[in-house]
Amino acid sequence: MTLNILVTGGAGFIGSHTCVALVEAGFTPLVVDNLCNADADALVRAAEVTRSRQPLVFWRGDVRDGALLDRIFATYPVHAVVHFAGLKSVGESVAQPIGYYDCNVQGSLSLVSAMQRAGVHRLIFSSSATVYGQPERSPVCETAALQPCSPYGQSKLFVERLLTDLAHADARWRIASLRYFNPAGAHPSGLLGERTSGTPNNLVPVLCKVASSASEKLTVHGGDYPTPDGTCVRDYVHVMDVAEGHIAALRHLEAGAGASTFNLGVGRGTSVLELVRAFASACGMEVRHAIGPRRAGDAAAYWADVERMRTATGWIARRTIADICGDAWRWQQSQQPALAAAA
Ligand code: NAD
Ligand code: UFG
Repeated sequence: MTLNILVTGGAGFIGSHTCVALVEAGFTPLVVDNLCNADADALVRAAEVTRSRQPLVFWRGDVRDGALLDRIFATYPVHAVVHFAGLKSVGESVAQPIGYYDCNVQGSLSLVSAMQRAGVHRLIFSSSATVYGQPERSPVCETAALQPCSPYGQSKLFVERLLTDLAHADARWRIASLRYFNPAGAHPSGLLGERTSGTPNNLVPVLCKVASSASEKLTVHGGDYPTPDGTCVRDYVHVMDVAEGHIAALRHLEAGAGASTFNLGVGRGTSVLELVRAFASACGMEVRHAIGPRRAGDAAAYWADVERMRTATGWIARRTIADICGDAWRWQQSQQPALAAAA
């Protein structure tokens, strides 16, 4: 008998990779996703990656639908929940705060209410380094000031606080909020990766787009930051390392009750220009780029202090920037026939 793990948002970028890691670790993922930013085909490919004979169990639905969650918990014994479902664009959240609070905060409230009704008290929550806002120093510890600069960041912090209150109120809860830094890359098989609808904003998807088009050029947002090469520095962490971090966190929940927060990063910063060079080397061609103006709201540099996660769970990121670039490029290339057909 394997343990069932309910994965909300399991068809998305990090969720689909985590389903693979869960199967590989001997768990059974059960996915609920409303497919607002995903394709159910990702779950078919996730099953293919793991060579499962069975398709992944999937409900198309919204975490704000409490009756649906009640049906899921009534149908399957669920050991723990990994909660990815949410909206994640900082810019969009500034323009549409109600939608972001509704999906991210109300969605989480609906989920923990249904868990409480069902007597399921183990939860891993997808938080974000965005809760730190513009950190004053790096590496950033979990105890750093929490000053999110967008409704998206606020929504993550609200949920973290809700979960802390829940664990204080009821000693049965075991909760880990994972603050991801910059998840990037793809599964090395080329079968799973980040789906970008419309124009990508994040650096690695933009690099993939630029490298696969003769006409495009990367605009580096600012070359005059107080960093070694003048471009912003971030902590890019491979999505399979992030996925495996959830397995480590799930195991850690067995250690005891309460709510904890953990940074999930590599613990090292990489500049935009360093990433451009690594990407060019992975795809074997020059990546056309030019320095442009700064992007509003960008912090110059930050990376994670990963000591708390390492000490508590033993997890560390194992993959390199070269792995991130090589795997993202393989995924991009596997998308080309589909993109050409859609054009
Ligand atoms: P994603 O958009 O690929 O995945 C989110 C999934 O949730 C999608 O499949 C979407 O269809 C689904 N979803 C959204 N709202 C839903 C709802 N109300 N009910 C059911 N399903 C819903 O995003 P991702 O990159 O995989 O991120 C997963 C989580 O991690 C998100 O909560 C995000 O905020 C957080 N996070 C992501 C990053 C990042 O850079 N990717 C960084 C920090 C935190
Ligand atoms: N960048 C460019 N050109 C581009 C795209 C990005 O120069 O075309 C630069 C950005 O200015 C930034 C760096 O690449 O310096 C990384 O930018 P991303 O947009 O990839 O990532 P961010 O660090 O801005 O934000 C990411 C997630 C957020 C999350 C945050 C948490 O997108 O959701 O990490 O640390 F909140």
